[in-house]
Amino acid sequence: MCGIVACRTTDAAGPYLVRALGLLEYRGYDSAGVAIRTAGSATATLRTVTRVDSLGALVKEWSGQPLTGTGIGHTRWATHGAVTEANAHPHRDCTGRISVVHNGIIENADELRQQLVAAGHEFASDVDSEVVCHLVEDALAETDDLHAAVTSMLPRLAGSWALVVMDAATGRLIATADGSPLLVARSARGDFVASDAGAIAEWIDDYRVLHDGDVVELAESVSWMRGGIPTPPPPVIHSTWGGADLSLDHHADFMDKEIDEQPETAARILEHLVPGIADGSLWRSTGVVDFNRVAMIGCGTSLNAGGVIGMVFSRLGGVPFESLVASEAAGPALGSRTVVFAISQSGETADVLRAVDDVGSVSSLIALTNNPHSTLARRADSIVNCFAGREIGVAATKTFVAQVVTGVSYALSALVETGRLSSADALRQVEDMRRIPDLLAQAIAASRQSIPAVVDQVRDATGFLYLGRGSGVVYAAEGALKLKELSYRWAEHYPAGELKHGPLALVEAGTPVVVVDNGDRRLASNIAEVAARGANVIRIGGAGSTVPALGLSMQSPLPGGIESWGPLESVVPMQILARDLALALGRDVDKPRNLAKSVTVE
Ligand code: F6R
Repeated sequence: MCGIVACRTTDAAGPYLVRALGLLEYRGYDSAGVAIRTAGSATATLRTVTRVDSLGALVKEWSGQPLTGTGIGHTRWATHGAVTEANAHPHRDCTGRISVVHNGIIENADELRQQLVAAGHEFASDVDSEVVCHLVEDALAETDDLHAAVTSMLPRLAGSWALVVMDAATGRLIATADGSPLLVARSARGDFVASDAGAIAEWIDDYRVLHDGDVVELAESVSWMRGGIPTPPPPVIHSTWGGADLSLDHHADFMDKEIDEQPETAARILEHLVPGIADGSLWRSTGVVDFNRVAMIGCGTSLNAGGVIGMVFSRLGGVPFESLVASEAAGPALGSRTVVFAISQSGETADVLRAVDDVGSVSSLIALTNNPHSTLARRADSIVNCFAGREIGVAATKTFVAQVVTGVSYALSALVETGRLSSADALRQVEDMRRIPDLLAQAIAASRQSIPAVVDQVRDATGFLYLGRGSGVVYAAEGALKLKELSYRWAEHYPAGELKHGPLALVEAGTPVVVVDNGDRRLASNIAEVAARGANVIRIGGAGSTVPALGLSMQSPLPGGIESWGPLESVVPMQILARDLALALGRDVDKPRNLAKSVTVE
């Protein structure tokens, strides 16, 4: 994963790099570092295994030669090598002249390291990325041109990379990418390179995204090369990020803020999409004409969102659908009339990108993403933007709601457009969907009241079960995922009927069992089964439940509509349970351990 930034500015590079790294921390926060060229053409390398804030302090405290406006920075999610300062980027060659930041994986790093060590190079870290420094060092023995040196060593690398190479002797900066995102931007402030436009948005108006194989030098005039040959720069993309909204308002953390933003997010999306549902025009805008099957590809929360959207196709339109875990979706036989939804809020998830490369001949590939400029968006036949706005908390909350509301809207529109659902039925669905913002708001209010008492009861529990039936199962899955990633406690989800086929053995006195009570009558006997074994049943349902967060749905069941794929609002109490328990246990809810928001390794 990891986040990269580089700059070439007339004023000091340090504050730019540190500010951008703070915004890139979502990509990994095991360690962070910068390498800044000094006035004496040397390099100040400052690294920390704590957070970016402390890197800012290191830069301020620097007492060596004055620092210039040229530098590179990195925030790391560890793959190769432990979380130590020595393994933090930037890395350098034997001479200290070359510094490198890398995002991706060098698959043949072990082999290259052996060759380089045999040739006399000394390594200072365990990470794969360091080989690049020494390869450039070797290449510079053959040419004094950094651009040529970088270009000549690239064919030796296998894997994926976004790299920035800085030469302290000359101040030259070269960026190159293959399989990992990287963009460059030029503005009155200077030249910038970043993994994500959001990190540098406050200093730029537009940017260009590197294609695989591009090698770009940031100099007086930016030179763009591919395969050693000058190539026209890719089109300019206007930045729509604006300044990053990093304010917490009155919230304690971003997850709290993002949970609260869900009703407004759903309302905004619905306002935008609803007019195109019952007349099929939303679906027509994708350009997909014909399909007889649907496949959802994604990971984690995005895959759960796909499960909900798939239910709309199958339950309301009779279209078979399958959910494919992206990391396992190698070469699936999907068929030429299958529409594939690749769902990824970041649009940069390596498993998803690899899976879409392998889908073969399908009717169409739709990217459902929160980042229309992402690598996934560029690879898809059409892009469906889920317009969640920026989500900073690592645990997906409002992006899940946005994916579901957006995906369901397109699915309904598809069913109308292909004659599988009448416009009248679709309009009834739309009326139901218009209630989602209120349902979410009511769920937030009810959860904030009831969850604190639940947290007191389950604080010491080491394992949790999440149960659902029918459309509730996928929400149970999402609830269990949130609990695991935030509280670091075991949580598994099951279709409630499966319990007696094995997992019931886990239940003992006090075991917390969270039930997504979507009104399915058969749940009563499953609840009785666990209660009889002393389980602590936490029922998320209508009035009288432990958490009466589905009140509106329950008071007035929604026939055949949301009932087929809801209750969407059931995720809210499970998000709040996961967050509140995590806080009670002293966890960092915005940056859970070992995770990152953009998972760019397979
Ligand atoms: C869980 C979570 C992850 C992501 C998964 C896919 O809260 O955020 O499970 O959903 O890593 O990420 P994207 O959607 O960026 O492909």
